[in-house]
Amino acid sequence: MEDALLQIRDLHTTFYTRDGLVRAVDGVSIEIAAGESVGIVGESGCGKSMTAMSLMGLLKKPGKVDGGTILFNGQDLTAMGPKERRKLMGNRISMIFQEPMTSLNPVTTVGRQVREALLLHNKEMSRTQARDRVIQVFQLVGIPDAAKRYHEYPHQLSGGLRQRVMIAMAMVCDPGLLIADEPTTALDVTIEAQILHLMKQLQEEKGTAVMMITHNLGVVAQFCTRLYVMYAGKVMESGTVREIFKNVCHPYTEGLMRSVPDMESKERLYNIRGMVPSMLHLPKGCRFCPRCQYSMAKCFEQEPGLYEPSPGHLVRCFLFEPEKGEESHEQK
Ligand SMILES: Nc1ncnc2c1ncn2[C@@H]1O[C@H](COP(=O)(O)OP(=O)(O)OP(=O)(O)O)[C@@H](O)[C@H]1O
Ligand SMILES: [Mg+2]
Repeated sequence: MEDALLQIRDLHTTFYTRDGLVRAVDGVSIEIAAGESVGIVGESGCGKSMTAMSLMGLLKKPGKVDGGTILFNGQDLTAMGPKERRKLMGNRISMIFQEPMTSLNPVTTVGRQVREALLLHNKEMSRTQARDRVIQVFQLVGIPDAAKRYHEYPHQLSGGLRQRVMIAMAMVCDPGLLIADEPTTALDVTIEAQILHLMKQLQEEKGTAVMMITHNLGVVAQFCTRLYVMYAGKVMESGTVREIFKNVCHPYTEGLMRSVPDMESKERLYNIRGMVPSMLHLPKGCRFCPRCQYSMAKCFEQEPGLYEPSPGHLVRCFLFEPEKGEESHEQK
């Protein structure tokens, strides 16, 4: 991608634990263009949040980035000093975290928290200007009685309103890239739909690129134009949402799609058989093969490469391996 805003290349994030080495992110490459909305999906534990935390420089010990590069506007974040990087975070890149309650300070009013985030990156702004701007952003994200809510504490707000405060906090500095880690999982479906609609609107109006992390392919279909499917630390399939929904290739993605609830059909929901493997004991060969209904002898022996069944559509599965003589994507 020539106009990439974010280019994650071959990222490795590892945890050295007492029981052994956990490769939570194992050679992941992801690109996002300016203004683009990209989905990252996969079951619990597949490395979605750790990819985001690596990018934000927020990994907790014993986690660390062990290899690869993270280019933002061409600058390698992994080579940046902590001070320089902190300046970029929150200003050019911001994140909505998986647990909204833990990321809001319970003893400070929500308005003040968002104002401080704004002032941190806009030293020339006065407090009054900052307060007015925050109230404006609260209105923009659909917080009713914004001026009154400004003075309330997180516990006084409903889950939906707290999530709107988080979105306001993430949007207040007009970031180029917004990372949303399961921004709506804690909310009921009506509020979820409202929040997604709001994020879509902000994204389109402001031209913000969004990395939408979710385990819900329905959210991706509604929100994103491109998609990366992760499994046990690796990207298994990627491409445009339109292409993957029309021509799903990886058996894992197929399983995820069949697990999306369908309001009309009365069929029992499909479950991918088996469980996500422990990251300490990954199977040999393809890490999905013990759960795969199409697995062949080869899948238990070798790791598949990334193959390209149609332009821009990448699949890590031997079913899509080109005939001998053709080359795989990773060999190019
Ligand atoms: N502190 C830790 N110590 C050891 N391993 C860890 C630690 N934190 C995360 N991991 C490993 O990283 C893997 C990926 O975790 P991550 O939080 O990225 O999953 P996720 O895809 O975001 O899942 P979820 O959908 O549940 O949020 C986990 O399966 C786990 O093996
Ligand atoms: Mg997560």
